[in-house]
Amino acid sequence: MRKQIVAGNWKMNNGLDKTMELLSGLKTQVIPEDVAVIVAPAFTNLYNAFESLRTYPIAVAAQNMHQATSGAFTGEVSATMLKSVGVTTVILGHSERRAMFWETNEILAAKVDTALENDMTAIFCFGEELEERKNDNHFNIVKEQLQEGLFHIKAANWDSIVLAYEPVWAIGTGETASPEQAQEMHKFVRNLVSDAFGNDVAEKVSILYGGSVKPGNAAEIFSKEDVDGGLIGGAALKADDFMAIVNAFA
Ligand code: G3P
Repeated sequence: MRKQIVAGNWKMNNGLDKTMELLSGLKTQVIPEDVAVIVAPAFTNLYNAFESLRTYPIAVAAQNMHQATSGAFTGEVSATMLKSVGVTTVILGHSERRAMFWETNEILAAKVDTALENDMTAIFCFGEELEERKNDNHFNIVKEQLQEGLFHIKAANWDSIVLAYEPVWAIGTGETASPEQAQEMHKFVRNLVSDAFGNDVAEKVSILYGGSVKPGNAAEIFSKEDVDGGLIGGAALKADDFMAIVNAFA
């Protein structure tokens, strides 16, 4: 059985006090044993989050990292810095980083390599814009993002990869992809992985859906055969909503 994962991408929200308040809310809840739960606070809160969750079954991820090991990259954060505060999981390729910070597939391929070289787990995001779906080009876009940003890795490295399909038109809009749309893309992606790396790799990799997942729609989305969980934005900022999604697996 593939790992079921629910990860909360907090984005640029919560100072230290709000972070600790939200984590306290999560720590009062029982985490189901068959779901891997991850929170991704802002860089400034990672160390406190890691320390606060040290004895809890909730992992901490970074929302990004630079591909270089160190050096003159003002404002950036490296893999070694993340690992120094206990963080070994990183979200890469979020559509907001692709769109607003010009992260190309080539840059993301380098970030993936750095994550793997540092024994980190990468949650690799991909997904189409609304126009691309309207033009029925969404499969080509996703195929390109994966082939150019991720498919250069070795088959053995796939144990350190989690995939996250996030249709850009569903992110933060309240417009969720239908469970059928999610399943169709996830199946397509799993077949791409199978063609390139073999069925064993394809059947093991967890593929998360992200884009307006809420307590009211999570169960139906997660019930789909090739959906292994969610990458949650807005709903992750409320402990009860996030835990309702964590508990949405049948
Ligand atoms: O990375 C997850 C995020 O992009 C989804 O955001 O607010 O639509 O759940 P949201």
